[in-house]
Amino acid sequence: MSDAALFTPFTLKDVTLRNRIAIPPMCQYSAVDGVTNDWHLAHYTGLARGGAGLVIVEATAVSPEGRISPGCTGLWNDEQMAGMARIAAAIKAGGAVAGIQIAHAGRKASANRPWEGDDHIAEDDARGWPTIAPSAVPFGAHLPKVPKAMTLDDIARVQADFVAAAKRALEAGFQWLELHFAHGYLAQSFFSRHTNQRTDGYGGDVAGRSRFLLETLAAVREVWPKNLPLTARFGVIEYDGDDARTLEESIQLTRAMREGGLDMLNVSVGFTIPDVQIPWGPAFLAPVAERVRREAGLPVAASWGIDNPAIANQAVADGQIDLVMVGRALLSNPHWPYQAAMALNVERPSWVLPAPYAHWLERYKVQQ
Ligand SMILES: Cc1cc2nc3c(=O)[nH]c(=O)nc-3n(C[C@H](O)[C@H](O)[C@H](O)COP(=O)(O)O)c2cc1C
Repeated sequence: MSDAALFTPFTLKDVTLRNRIAIPPMCQYSAVDGVTNDWHLAHYTGLARGGAGLVIVEATAVSPEGRISPGCTGLWNDEQMAGMARIAAAIKAGGAVAGIQIAHAGRKASANRPWEGDDHIAEDDARGWPTIAPSAVPFGAHLPKVPKAMTLDDIARVQADFVAAAKRALEAGFQWLELHFAHGYLAQSFFSRHTNQRTDGYGGDVAGRSRFLLETLAAVREVWPKNLPLTARFGVIEYDGDDARTLEESIQLTRAMREGGLDMLNVSVGFTIPDVQIPWGPAFLAPVAERVRREAGLPVAASWGIDNPAIANQAVADGQIDLVMVGRALLSNPHWPYQAAMALNVERPSWVLPAPYAHWLERYKVQQ
């Protein structure tokens, strides 16, 4: 193998990834009652076969009300768990580590699929459901529904749902668990000053706004094995004009999560409010992730346009990020890892593929 940093193994707890390429969670909006089907099996099988070290299954709701759309996957019952067990096994058969993201969409729940509008399901449409959030503050824009402010009982129930989903994820065979604390969904909206107007112990200063996230992490850590990675995806920055303060607070929370047993942070954007100025561009989050890595002292992953092999490799080589998450480029080309290996002059690029493909590509030196 060549020296390409992107193709060095990565070990976290007792789990070793064959390289630094990870596939981030990507909703398929194709489940029925939260249960996966042949689409999901084929999709995740293909992604794992392509050679990434880690495949994280899409945002999977911990309760029916926590789904983004009626097509989102769930882990609140055993039928859903059985479907996920097939997917975890298929990912492992492709040579990747099987991960899953568990989630609650908060005030962004009860939406139409992206290709059917992406907006909140109309109040008089029976497919929708009431939403919850730390405070009764709507997102606005295409998601105008006003959520119910959660009671302390609601908070305890959602946290218990996270624990139950984590147990099912383990039983289904996943080796890597990611808590969805990002993208303006429930946990992110507890943390954000834009959305948390609570006056009890779950709001106010950064400690109060962090409490829901830290308690949920602690409760899940109790049931998720100590030797397996427990990670979170969190939006450390909003691009709302107040980023210096948000980043400081996010790093403070990340340190507290590390002390609470978090093994890695998947650094992302908050997406808490509609009117923001995100500086889209190749690897724009990499310097932000590097700062979190350095100041919070734990490994980080990042995505958003890190899909050029040379840029991805450099980000790992420079110690900016530990894992490169490649999403849409893998939807376009599930063999992106193989082609990245060729682009980086890895000595035997076909090694990233399973033997039934690798053998032939090696022998005949097939190029793209
Ligand atoms: C179809 C689709 C579904 C997504 N679903 C999720 C999700 O379930 N959870 C999540 O944290 N991010 C989700 N995202 C964001 C991706 O994980 C990723 O961060 C994003 O696509 C940027 O990476 P990329 O530029 O390599 O595509 C989704 C993105 C896409 C394109």
